[in-house]
Amino acid sequence: MSILFTDRLVLRPFKETDAEAMYKNWTFDNRVAKYCRWYPHSNIEMTQQLLNMYLEEAKKGFEYRWAILLNGNDAPIGAIDVVGVSEDNKTATVGYALSYNYWNKGYATEALKEVIKHLFNNGFNVIEAEHHIDNIASGKVMEKCGMKYIGDSKAQKKFGSDEYCIVKQYQIKKP
Ligand SMILES: CC(C)(COP(=O)(O)OP(=O)(O)OC[C@H]1O[C@@H](n2cnc3c(N)ncnc32)[C@H](O)[C@@H]1OP(=O)(O)O)[C@@H](O)C(=O)NCCC(=O)NCCS
Repeated sequence: MSILFTDRLVLRPFKETDAEAMYKNWTFDNRVAKYCRWYPHSNIEMTQQLLNMYLEEAKKGFEYRWAILLNGNDAPIGAIDVVGVSEDNKTATVGYALSYNYWNKGYATEALKEVIKHLFNNGFNVIEAEHHIDNIASGKVMEKCGMKYIGDSKAQKKFGSDEYCIVKQYQIKKP
């Protein structure tokens, strides 16, 4: 499982002791969950369950999920992962979330750029991402990483809900 480094960040696999920082930094937070399909967690046990799933998937060989850390601090401030892979294993869809306290400092862009590079070096030819139409910051991150807008589609608003929303889709191809 790869650890990735950028100028200011370390992207490492999640580990068993991460639940507290995850909950404190973003999983509790409706501001972070607002345009995501997950609901904010009302207690740390929910985060622990999510983390257990992450660790289980990693044990089974899933290699494309990272905790985002500030260089020199081992408490995760966010997460970035592959949320879907095409049947031919050539296209990966990525997702990310960051603690509200760290927004608008370029961190998500820095993390996504590194993950795109890593995925291109590991057999993927196309990286995709999508965001809720009102989630302007996320679209900016995609654009700043060189991704191109390819169209809109309808997507489930929240896991388990029948409500749908418009999402904007972006893509970048391996040079
Ligand atoms: C989306 C998210 C990851 C962005 O992280 P970030 O580290 O703040 O992103 P960056 O700082 O790299 O870039 C954000 C850009 O959006 C811009 N931006 C932020 N809010 C904006 C708004 N309301 N309107 C226009 N631009 C906005 C910032 O100015 C910045 O652009 P700039 O560098 O040109 O100034 C973060 O807001 C987040 O975690 N949101 C909640 C989870 C989420 O929505 N994840 C994505 C699901 S698709």
